[in-house]
Amino acid sequence: MSTKKDKLVIFDTTLRDGEQSPGASMTKEEKVRIARMLERMRVDVIEAGFAIASPGDFEAVQAVAEAVTESRICSLARAVNADILRAGEALKKANASRIHTFIATSPIHMKYKLQMDPEDVLQQAVNAVKTARQFTDDVEFSLEDGSRSEPDFMYRIIEAVITAGAGTINIPDTVGYGEPEEYGAMFRRVIESVPNSDKAIFSTHCHNDLGLAVANSLSAVMNGVRQVECTINGLGERAGNASLEEIVMAVQTRQDLYPVETGIDTSHIVPTSRMVSSVTGFPVQPNKAIVGANAFAHESGIHQDGVLKHRETYEIMRAEDVGWGQNRLVLGKHSGRAAVRARYEELGINFSDSEEFHQVFLRFKELADKKHEIFDEDLHSLVAESEAPVERFQLNDLDVRSKIGSAPQAFISLSIDGKAHETEAKGDGPVDATFKAIEYIVDSGADLKLYSVNAVTQGTDSQGSVTVRLEKDGRLVNGVGADTDILIASAQAYMDALNLLASSESKKQGV
Ligand code: KIV
Ligand code: ZN
Repeated sequence: MSTKKDKLVIFDTTLRDGEQSPGASMTKEEKVRIARMLERMRVDVIEAGFAIASPGDFEAVQAVAEAVTESRICSLARAVNADILRAGEALKKANASRIHTFIATSPIHMKYKLQMDPEDVLQQAVNAVKTARQFTDDVEFSLEDGSRSEPDFMYRIIEAVITAGAGTINIPDTVGYGEPEEYGAMFRRVIESVPNSDKAIFSTHCHNDLGLAVANSLSAVMNGVRQVECTINGLGERAGNASLEEIVMAVQTRQDLYPVETGIDTSHIVPTSRMVSSVTGFPVQPNKAIVGANAFAHESGIHQDGVLKHRETYEIMRAEDVGWGQNRLVLGKHSGRAAVRARYEELGINFSDSEEFHQVFLRFKELADKKHEIFDEDLHSLVAESEAPVERFQLNDLDVRSKIGSAPQAFISLSIDGKAHETEAKGDGPVDATFKAIEYIVDSGADLKLYSVNAVTQGTDSQGSVTVRLEKDGRLVNGVGADTDILIASAQAYMDALNLLASSESKKQGV
């Protein structure tokens, strides 16, 4: 007889804690696109941002709250009124909302960061939860640096915030200091010691400074936790957060062990991982569990032989269950608008208006002329291309020459506000020559912080997806470009980054 398992709530914070990773900032449109993928994956709660952090964050939370109906949408808020009001405002149109309010509870944070007495911290936490409950009946309270907090104080504050109306209690390992056995045991003691603990769901939120974020989260689950906070590809500040795909697949693969199940549709994991990687420009290492290119590649002859004879000899999961191998040949140069739009819908990508789809369709046609087989990954890369609201800079032509023994040379033609300019430059490589040529004309004053190229599909006809990260006056932007010619993709990505910088400059000036 099978016993019914508890539901493990998957709370994704890619768009909030993931975005806090330096250089991983996302535009509102990118956040909406990722949120739709998370919704399709049946993520329970999507933390869309920190509404008070900036007008951009506020608008992104608002846009995600409007676009997503199946998942609960959450905004972070410090335990202060202004933050909570802003979060409540941003979430107004959500079908299901949550306010996630937090305050630090460890002695070191209270003394040096907050400079507050524990009793005042407790009172502020209770007030914050009460205020948040005026906006939504779903309030989460986090004890920041909880894993380094004193047990008795934790029990008191948790009891008080549950009484005030918090339905989820999150005890983060903010600095990634926890160790699995110790972190799990902490939850068991908290749940046993807090008199009203049965009125709340306990949650884990782990950082990966010691490489233990997933192990700590799973240990917490074994000790009564029923919500895990995590991110796609383990994106997050410093060494990142616990990785969603690893937690979900550990729970699914070891159903003999874990007393919980998730509602996640795992077949969307790989496409979502790809999307997050291309939007942020953070490549996924080939040996990364679940979503790395080699995660299911058996190289040794003994393994290959075993897998061919009986798959389970060496495979504990099926690649197709997490979305590998679904890159079907779906479209070609004869495919029309309806077919392309329908495939995008199947991939969970909807366009906000017909002009947006028209632009993507034009890029699809261009690509189909160069590359006969169009895979789902190609479709993803086409939408990841330029989203900049301002298109000041446009690439007209590029001619790059490389010869053994001489410096590569790039000849470029581009337009700024419609006016054409041409120049040439030599560089330490063809990409360097191309970027120098662009800068001879534009003279942007921006610093190049990251350049990365990834093959979108397999084979030498693959598109190269390029990310260029530029920084100017403390602002970081990620430009993206994709083409079967990686030099053209690189130039496009650079132009995209310049357009994003121009967009954020015009926003700042209120244009
Ligand atoms: O790491 C942390 O403590 C956080 C909280 C705000 C939940 O991200
Ligand atoms: Zn965090």
